[in-house]
Amino acid sequence: MQACQLAGMNIIEIPHPTVVDVRGVSKRFGRGAPVLDDVSFSIKRGEMVALIGASGSGKSTLIRSIAGLLPIDRGADGDAEKNAIRLFERPMQRNGRIDGGAREMRSRTGVIFQQFNLVPRLTVLTNVCLGRLGRTAAWRGTLGRFTMDEQMLAMRALDRVGMAEHALKRGCDLSGGQQQRAAIARTLVQGAELLIADEPIASLDPASARRVMDILADMNRRDGITVLVSLHQVEYALKYCPRTIALKAGKIVYDGPSAALTEAQFCNLYGAECDDILFAKNDLAPAWRRPDADLPQFVAAGHLPVPDSRHAPVNDAHSAHAWPHADRRTA
Ligand SMILES: Nc1ncnc2c1ncn2[C@@H]1O[C@H](COP(=O)(O)OP(=O)(O)OP(=O)(O)O)[C@@H](O)[C@H]1O
Ligand SMILES: [Mg+2]
Repeated sequence: MQACQLAGMNIIEIPHPTVVDVRGVSKRFGRGAPVLDDVSFSIKRGEMVALIGASGSGKSTLIRSIAGLLPIDRGADGDAEKNAIRLFERPMQRNGRIDGGAREMRSRTGVIFQQFNLVPRLTVLTNVCLGRLGRTAAWRGTLGRFTMDEQMLAMRALDRVGMAEHALKRGCDLSGGQQQRAAIARTLVQGAELLIADEPIASLDPASARRVMDILADMNRRDGITVLVSLHQVEYALKYCPRTIALKAGKIVYDGPSAALTEAQFCNLYGAECDDILFAKNDLAPAWRRPDADLPQFVAAGHLPVPDSRHAPVNDAHSAHAWPHADRRTA
């Protein structure tokens, strides 16, 4: 809930809509053990949530299921509360079937993977314009013919992620961090309201990783874009995401403020890797341990970051100008 006070009037509670709702989701490949085991959580509009867990804990499976790229298991017949994923308060999939309306939800959802998914032979500008597919005439999109307005939109997005000067290079000629920033620019052009990123910084050096996370955090704060990001590096989860969901062997073992995660919980999550994880956390995010650390505020009840003056109003993501201000800070 977001509290607003009008001059001389009572406080009004404005409920944030639920953007992601995962209800009792299980997923098994073949006859193996469940990779996701009765997973439930919801994410409100404007949240930035980290998904953490050891390798093989089910992060990618969960993200692909939420994006409607992987069907979840069928549940017991008649149990509407189980095996359902809803996006934007509409069904994305249920009981092993992707909903017929999934296309519209996909167009509102940007998905970013560890491998950057640019078309290598196309220019960066065209790659970013491809974010308009689904909103532009199909024949123009498939021929790579975009209007001047669409190209301007793409240039502004590239400028925002510090990539304008690389617009005419081919996708394959960019560094990993540059490719990832171009992929993010594509989601801006898409007008995504929800961004789901699966280990977007796993292949990047620390400077590039920070830059990518800064951009995601900026999109969350200024545009109100809801972000769910899986991260192997927990120090980034602590630094950038007010809320963390932790998976272990396909089950949620923690869902709450990132700042409240304890060393014991990290060790339970990561087992033998625990020492490396804690070292990285303490080394790269020393402020995390200070009692006066400037951690993001958190409303425990709704898992919502408290809006502050940096929060821009949530944009209409269907508007071509959902993110009109070039951000020189990230350039
Ligand atoms: N298509 C598939 N067929 C069979 N098993 C799969 C398939 N995809 C994933 N799995 C298994 O599901 C489990 C979870 O995999 P997943 O990729 O979701 O883990 P993860 O948490 O993303 O791991 P990582 O941090 O290494 O990316 C693993 O044991 C994996 O082998
Ligand atoms: Mg993965």
